[in-house]
Amino acid sequence: MSDDHGTIESLSSLAHETPDTYPPSAEFRAQANQNNSEIYLRAAADPEGYWAEQARTRLTWTKPFTEVLDWTNPPFAKWFQDGELNVAANCLDRHVANGLGDRVAIHFEGEPGDSRSITYAELTYEVKRAANMLTSLGVTAGDRVAIYMPMIPETIISMLAVARLGAAHSVVFGGFSAESLRARIDDAEAELVITADGGYRKGRVSPLKPVVDQALELDDADGKPSTVKHVLVVQRGKNDITMESGRDLWWHEEITAYDGEHQAQGFPAENPLFILYTSGTTGRPKGILHTSGGYLTQVTTTHSDVFDLKPESDVWWCTADVGWVTGHSYIVYGPLANGATQVVYEGTPDTPDWGRWWEIIQKYGVTTFYTAPTAIRSFMKVGRQVPEKYDLSSIRLLGSVGEPINPEAWRWYHEVIGASQVPIVDTWWQTETGAIMVAPLPGLTSLKPGSSQIAQPGIAVSVLDESGDKVDRGQGGLLVVERPWPAMVRTIWGDDQRFIDTYWEKFGDKYFAGDGARLDEDGDVWFMGRVDDVMNVSGHRLSTTEIESALVGHHAVAEAAVVGADDETTGQAVVAFVILKSQQQLLTEAEAEAELKKHVASHIGAIARPRNVFVVNELPKTRSGKIMRRLLKDAAEGRTIGDTTTLADTMVMQTISDRVVAER
Ligand code: WT7
Repeated sequence: MSDDHGTIESLSSLAHETPDTYPPSAEFRAQANQNNSEIYLRAAADPEGYWAEQARTRLTWTKPFTEVLDWTNPPFAKWFQDGELNVAANCLDRHVANGLGDRVAIHFEGEPGDSRSITYAELTYEVKRAANMLTSLGVTAGDRVAIYMPMIPETIISMLAVARLGAAHSVVFGGFSAESLRARIDDAEAELVITADGGYRKGRVSPLKPVVDQALELDDADGKPSTVKHVLVVQRGKNDITMESGRDLWWHEEITAYDGEHQAQGFPAENPLFILYTSGTTGRPKGILHTSGGYLTQVTTTHSDVFDLKPESDVWWCTADVGWVTGHSYIVYGPLANGATQVVYEGTPDTPDWGRWWEIIQKYGVTTFYTAPTAIRSFMKVGRQVPEKYDLSSIRLLGSVGEPINPEAWRWYHEVIGASQVPIVDTWWQTETGAIMVAPLPGLTSLKPGSSQIAQPGIAVSVLDESGDKVDRGQGGLLVVERPWPAMVRTIWGDDQRFIDTYWEKFGDKYFAGDGARLDEDGDVWFMGRVDDVMNVSGHRLSTTEIESALVGHHAVAEAAVVGADDETTGQAVVAFVILKSQQQLLTEAEAEAELKKHVASHIGAIARPRNVFVVNELPKTRSGKIMRRLLKDAAEGRTIGDTTTLADTMVMQTISDRVVAER
C-alpha cells in the first residue's frame, strides 16, 4: 500500500448510518437452499471437510480425490490434487446423461433483437464439435487460447471447448485495445485467437477482428514475434473484414467438417482452466491463474447457495460480460455446472432504450438477477417510470457485485425492481478469489443495505490493522482471507514472485485482498473500496499507474498523475492531471483534453478513458519527489485540500484546485 493513498484511519472515521435490516420472509426461508444456520458452524469446524463434501456431491469426478488440500508450500495451494475431472463435461454431458438434455441452457438475446434458445443437448453437441475443430487446429491440454469476442453463444461454446481439451482460455474483454490484447496474447503465449468479425453495442456493430489484426501487426515486444498461428473468426456483425490466408479461418466454414462425437477426458484437478488478466498497482496487468476442481467446486456451491438456485424452475440472469471474472464464474461455469437456465444478452442496457433489460426480464420470466451498482445508479437517474412499465413479478432474488452498493441504490433496487420484498445479496469477491467470498445467505441473513455482511461457509475473513492484529467491532482496517479456499488464484501466470509479493508479503500466510473494510457492532463486514493504486470504475478495475504510463507515452506529455475520484454513476471516475511539454507548444490546453482522453482509450480501452484531463503546470510532490495523489483526489472531488505541509511547493495545490473549480 502506498503512503499517499486512503489510510486505515480515514476508513474508520467514515460516516456510517445505523442500518435498517431486512430479515428473510418466512416463505423465502422455508424454501431456501440454506435455511439452517448450523452450516456456518459445521463448515468452520472442518472447512476442508465442508469443501470436500461440496466437491463430491456437486461435481462428477472421473477419478475421485483422496487428498483435499495441500498447503505444504504456501502460498501455492493444491485442492483435490489427486482427483481428475473434465470441467466441460460437468457443465454439459452429465446433464444430458441425467435426462436434462431438453432443458434450455441459454436464452440468447442479441442486441438487434434476434434471439435463440439453446438446450443442454444442443450446447453439448456444439461444444463437442468445436472441441474437434480446435483439436485439428492443434489445441491440446496445457495450451492457451485467447478469446476476444462479443457476448454471443459461441463465446461460451469456445470457452467450454477449450476447457474440454484441458487447455486454458484467456478471455480478453472486447472493449480492450489492440495493444492490451497483444500484451495478453504475448504473456500467455497463445497460439490460437478466437474472435468475431464484430458484435453489437449501442445499436452499431463494434468491430473486433480488425483489432485482432492490428494487435498481431504491432511491433513485437522483446523482439519476439507473436505466437499466434491461427485466428478463428465467428460471423456476427457481418462488417467488412480482411482474412489473412493461411492464418485466418471462418468458424462457420470450418465447423461443418466436424461431428458431435467427442469423448471428454478427465484432467487433474489442478490443471489450468483459465488465465484472466486484471489491473494491478503497476502498469503491467496480472495474469490470474485459475485451475479446475477447486474453482468449479466453489463457483457451483456459491451459485447455488447465495442465489438460492432452483435449476428446474429458475431463470438466471447475470448481466456481466464474459470478459470479466463475473461472467466466467456466474455465466459460464457456476450456472452451467449447476444445470441452470439463463439469459445471455449481447448488448447495452440502453439499446434501443432504457427499458431493454426489464423487457428481457418480462420476456423470459427471469427469477434471479445479478448486476452491478453502477447499472442500478444509471437506472435511478433515468427514473423508476421505465422499469415500472414492465412486469417484473417473476423476480424472487436480486444480486449486486463489483463495488460497494450505496444504501440509496440498494433501497431503489429493492423497492423498484424487487417489489419491496425480494432479498438482495451483495456479493464481495475478486478476480483472484474466483468465486463469492463474503455475501449474505438469503434464507438466513437479515440484510443490511450497503453491507456484504458475512463470509461464506468454509471461508474465514478478518479485518486487520497495519500491524496484523484484528480490529475491534466498530473499527476499520484491511480485509484478509485467513485460509486457502478452493477457487483461489494459484499464481500470477509466469510470475510466482509477483504473486507472493502482491498478496502474501503483507500478512504472511493470510491473503491480503487490497480492500479496506469496516466491522460493525454485529461483526458484519462493510467494504470501503481499494486501499492501493487500483480504481474501481463501473465495477471494473483500472490501475492508476497503467493509465499514467499511457499518458506519458503521448509525445506532448511531460508528466501525469491519475486518481480515481468519486462519481455519482460509475462509482469512481478516472481523473488525470498532466503537465505538457510546454516549450514545444504541441497542443493547446483545449486540444490536450480531447486528445489525451482519446489516447488513453486507444491504448488501453474505452473503459479507461478519463472523465477529466486537467492540464497543470506543476504536480504536488513531496520533498523526495513522490506525487501526492491523495491531494489531487481531494481537488478532483471538490474537497478542501488536506495537509500540504509535506509538499516541496505548498502553493501548487491552490493553483490546481483553482483549475479544477474553474472547470466545474
Ligand atoms: C474488486 C475486485 C468480483 C467481480 C467483479 C470485480 C471490488 C467487488 C464488491 C462488493 C465492495 C466490491 C473490491 C474488489 N468489489 N465486489 N460487493 N462490495 N467492493 O472483480 O475486477 O477483480 O475487482 O472489486 O474492491 O477488490 P475485480
